[in-house]
Amino acid sequence: MAIFSSSTKEIPQEIATVPRHIAVIMDGNGRWAKKRMMPRIFGHKRGVEALRETVRACDALGVGYLTVFAFSNENWRRPQDEVSFLMGLFLKVLSGEITRMHDNNIRLKIIGNREHFSPELIALIDAAEVKTAENTGLTLSIAADYGGRWDVMHATHCLLADHPELSTTFAEEDLTPYLAMAYAPEPDLFIRTGGEQRISNFLLWQLAYTELYFSDMLWPDFDRHALAAAIDWYHGRERRFGRISEQLQSSC
Ligand code: IPE
Ligand code: IPE
Ligand code: MG
Repeated sequence: MAIFSSSTKEIPQEIATVPRHIAVIMDGNGRWAKKRMMPRIFGHKRGVEALRETVRACDALGVGYLTVFAFSNENWRRPQDEVSFLMGLFLKVLSGEITRMHDNNIRLKIIGNREHFSPELIALIDAAEVKTAENTGLTLSIAADYGGRWDVMHATHCLLADHPELSTTFAEEDLTPYLAMAYAPEPDLFIRTGGEQRISNFLLWQLAYTELYFSDMLWPDFDRHALAAAIDWYHGRERRFGRISEQLQSSC
């Protein structure tokens, strides 16, 4: 597995013009539908189309990793019929898209707690990951029943199960290989649509030095132009990783 430098322990070697990794909270599906006097589920269906376009656009731009938040640990608290619809939609989209993703050289990863999914969905996730494991194009990670705190706790339990001798002390580097996104560099750019300015328990660890972009656009309206606007904004950021501006200028 590739080892990526961490933004807190080491300064990343190079800051790519095109973000290497974009993380997205796809928010606003329900409000999009409500504005059109439609049930919330229509927003979720249209949200899949926005995701399809975003995947295509990231692939075309040469973004290496796209990670999207599809269902949080806390989303089980929603009305039962919406939760069932979302689970069904996940199953349908996964089974319907996997061949196309594979043909487009996309590597698919699903991160999060799988324990509460149906056996059918778990089998499909496993099969999709195995089928696309060797693909070398965009890595699309879908966070489903994911939470940043779950991730850190789960990683800690796994580390200590593998290395009980570390129970009294362990370092950041011992833990990070057990985190859900150990296979990817930390996100350069985070995008949240829907107007809320919060992280909602997404990649708490991994977003330590990510540039955070918030948009009022509702997720079903997101498209390649909106993605380009976010990347343009990212280009204007100065990524200091704890240093001061003058240090960046003198190292050029
Ligand atoms: C995000 O859209 C999708 C999921 C959480 C599954 P929402 O469903 O949260 O839409 P709003 O925020 O209610 O508009
Ligand atoms: C965050 O959206 C989770 C996903 C997009 C999957 P929510 O709409 O659930 O977030 P909160 O609860 O408003 O913070
Ligand atoms: Mg929401």
